[in-house]
Amino acid sequence: MVSLTADLSPLRPDRNLALELVRATEAAAIRAVPFIGRGAKEAADGAAVDAMRAFLGTVDFDGRVVIGEGEKDNAPMLFNGEHVGSGTGTGPQCDIAVDPIDGTSLTAAGRQNALSVIAVSDRGTMLDASSVFYMDKLVTGPAGVGVVDIRLPIGENIRRLAAALGKPVEEIVVSVLNRPRHEQLIADIREAGAGTRLMSDGDVAGGINAARHGARTDMCVGVGGSPEGIVTACAIKALGGHIQGRLWPRDDDERQRGIDAGLDMDKVYEADDLVSGNNTIFVATGVTDGQLVAGVRREGDYLYTESVVLRSASGTLRRIASEHLVSKWL
Ligand code: FBP
Repeated sequence: MVSLTADLSPLRPDRNLALELVRATEAAAIRAVPFIGRGAKEAADGAAVDAMRAFLGTVDFDGRVVIGEGEKDNAPMLFNGEHVGSGTGTGPQCDIAVDPIDGTSLTAAGRQNALSVIAVSDRGTMLDASSVFYMDKLVTGPAGVGVVDIRLPIGENIRRLAAALGKPVEEIVVSVLNRPRHEQLIADIREAGAGTRLMSDGDVAGGINAARHGARTDMCVGVGGSPEGIVTACAIKALGGHIQGRLWPRDDDERQRGIDAGLDMDKVYEADDLVSGNNTIFVATGVTDGQLVAGVRREGDYLYTESVVLRSASGTLRRIASEHLVSKWL
């Protein structure tokens, strides 16, 4: 049950912050628009990063970037460890994960499902998994909680989820990134009798679509980015769904870097290990059209954006449709 007397400490991120953050994802999505379908993914990402950073600089909070655009030397902005916010030293102290565009290749190609994303949680609660690039993930909606487990064969998880959802295995749809590394996984999903939705990119949207009520997929599995796993966990907590992750180092050097950073290569990271506590905020604005949100659309003098705001404290998914005067963005 939602507590109406929840911790009202001004040092914790709250619902007002959630709405402030949408301005930053909206700005990043709008600034990426000129690059949609233009084959220039770095330029699209750069424009989105600049816009997101500028807007975050106006928000009255002290955000410590746990998941950003990489290390300081390689990423001039929104780098891991950077503090963002209005700089007044007031407002809630948070961990923040930014993905100005999840789906830079989708954006460059003009394909569906690119999002601009920010996730926030209480200070000290987000796992810094940045030393290992990939994570194997298993995401479902609430029906999968206590039912599926990443240690089990995929066929068994599909059968368990089907039973929990009360539908035949043939109606289960599993999304997975379309990569050579998933050839066997995809074959096993089909062998179990379920259908696949192969994603060319964008497993943040894929994970949320598997967990949210009324979507067309039931499960999202496979190896994608570790940062995307943390960001997705912030959303899944608000949806009451299931998420587990296992780090997937590409070689011995990366494995060692992960161990040196305090990560455990054999551990199954549960939702609470990926982001602990129950005060996560996830906001995303569509860059291109997708199942979760529509992309930015221009009509005459207006730009239309669609965003979602998910808060674990209240268990809500809100949709925010905004109209922006084009003249303000020239
Ligand atoms: P970018 O937008 O940063 O390129 O990420 C897109 C993405 O598809 C993520 O959603 C996913 O987690 C990751 O890339 C998968 O990595 P790879 O393309 O190397 O398989």
